Amino acid sequence: MAESMKGLHRSYRCAEVNSKNIGETVTVMGWVAKSRNKGGIVFVDLRDRSGILQIIFEEKDCGAENFAKAEKLKSEFVVAVTGVIEARSGAVNPNLATGEIEVRASACRILSEALTPPFPVEENSKTKEELRLKYRYLDLRRPDLQRNLMLRSKVSNVTRQFLSEEGFLEIETPILQKSTPEGARDYLVPSRVHPGHFYALPQSPQLFKQLLMCSGCDRYFQIAKCFRDEDLRADRQPEFTQIDMELSFVDVDDVIDVNERLMQRVFKECLDVDIELPIPRMSWQEAMDRFGSDKPDIRFGMELTDVSDIVKDCGFGVFTGAIADGGSVRGINVKGQGEMPRKKIDALVDMAKGSGAKGLAYLAILPDGTYKSSFAKFMTEDELSAIAGKMNGEPGDLLLFAADKNKIVWNVLGQLRTELAEQLGLIDKKDFKFLWVVDFPMLEWSDEEERYVAMHHPFTMPREEDMDKLDTAPGEVLAKAYDIVLNGCEVGGGSVRIHQDDVQEKIFEVLGFTKEQANDRFGFLLTAFKYGVPPHAGLAYGLDRLVMLMAGMDSIRDVIAFPKVKDASCLMTNAPDLVDEKQLDELFLKSTAEGE
Ligand code: AMO
Ligand code: AMP
Repeated sequence: MAESMKGLHRSYRCAEVNSKNIGETVTVMGWVAKSRNKGGIVFVDLRDRSGILQIIFEEKDCGAENFAKAEKLKSEFVVAVTGVIEARSGAVNPNLATGEIEVRASACRILSEALTPPFPVEENSKTKEELRLKYRYLDLRRPDLQRNLMLRSKVSNVTRQFLSEEGFLEIETPILQKSTPEGARDYLVPSRVHPGHFYALPQSPQLFKQLLMCSGCDRYFQIAKCFRDEDLRADRQPEFTQIDMELSFVDVDDVIDVNERLMQRVFKECLDVDIELPIPRMSWQEAMDRFGSDKPDIRFGMELTDVSDIVKDCGFGVFTGAIADGGSVRGINVKGQGEMPRKKIDALVDMAKGSGAKGLAYLAILPDGTYKSSFAKFMTEDELSAIAGKMNGEPGDLLLFAADKNKIVWNVLGQLRTELAEQLGLIDKKDFKFLWVVDFPMLEWSDEEERYVAMHHPFTMPREEDMDKLDTAPGEVLAKAYDIVLNGCEVGGGSVRIHQDDVQEKIFEVLGFTKEQANDRFGFLLTAFKYGVPPHAGLAYGLDRLVMLMAGMDSIRDVIAFPKVKDASCLMTNAPDLVDEKQLDELFLKSTAEGE
């Protein structure tokens, strides 16, 4: 039977003691990670979130009753042990913080027994993620996930502390909001009191934080839950957390300054890593041209080269056709891979096709300086050597090319570049390389919607010098928007906001909103602006992504206590689930879904 805590007090967490505590009588509590009965001696590894502590039970120290309990212990039993800390009787374990000591038990209470867990609770688990997520509370006992949660808590704490010192107020904004679709799909919540009406869960606190600037709050931050009904990936969850902020009376440089210092402080205090300031800045155009991505990983080279000018009149129709269609031909130089086997090159071609390419052309420069290529036969010797020259191609190198619309070429080579760097081990996983990407295009043409859509959001300020292009060449207008990128991942983004109502009206017009639509959706913001609005700007980090990178994980699921899986369900609670007819009736809802 499970015993109680009556009269017991924990004196330390398991790994909070060390050789300095030798001779001290302590009471520790935790889960049995391992127990070994050596006949007359029972060794137990006791685990809590701090780590592992070895306990040694012998009948002569703890008496027959306690020893009988020790012999009964199985994995994941919860126990309290009182005893004296001693130097280890057996071999010292250099892998454990408590490897030099053990507790010689004088008493033991079994606080709770445990079923055999469906998978071993251990570091670097080999168990399938589905099973682990079903029993997430057990999964979270694993030391790696515990460390991730502790790191996440620390990042939040340091952020709170830093921003408070910098004069930011922590203010909560509503979770039940008005639906203002633009960007991802909203999660809707039906109203019981207003039949047929719906709230939406916030995709971000964007509008409210701007209103707080109108209210004179001056500097706001919030560690905010956000909800987006979009397709999930390793770095996307339907609910995620932002470190969200907004500042009054500032321009781009002010926001960048405070955020660089925030990142420096967070990395120093949480990881003891020094981030050198200032963080480099790169225009969106340069990022695309050099790396084929608006979130370039600058830990390695393999940059893109535009060879359109060399091949525009060559004999290879694939290249000339793409250029004639307004596209380009660009390549990357995979150093030292000139003798990559055909099979591997074919796999790269397939990968390129997977990211939208019609094909991938290659030019291998063999060690003797001759070429092996999918297109050399269509080219003159001069053209080939001009390409190789521009791409710094040397004997032994493999040059890969994509020809298409710029957007596709960037995407294909950008993805190939990171994939190859991964495969060839060019990335130093311990390195943290931040980058600001700035000067984003304001608008992006959507073929699907046949209109311009905001690349960031409709409240982003165009650059002053581009304002008059809003009428003549909207596609060329650059925005006062910035993303903060870490190791090839967009960890945050923001912008200077429009605070002039004529500019805001113009943007809505370019985005194809009628006055009525704009008023219906954002009227409260536009009205607020008429009562005195300070110039303001802000930024939001994806906290999950930031912590994922800091923890060296590949998925944000590893830094979220209770994440959802690809189809947005929770394997542990089975959410989303059907509800009672009565609940639906109260909300004036009727499901049209087929089946159960
Ligand atoms: P944005 O939409 O760029 O900007 O979001 C800010 C950051 O949030 C993270 N993020 C996500 N993380 C996990 N799962 C998701 N589904 C997800 N979507 C976004 C990213 C991203 O950089 N209101 C603006 C910010 C501003 O202008 O101040 C906003 O939400 O790391
Ligand atoms: P094809 O003429 O289609 O047989 O293509 C000849 C070579 O060019 C093959 O190696 C293709 O993979 C490659 N290729 C085809 N389309 C493209 C493209 N859009 N960009 C780069 N290479 C391509």
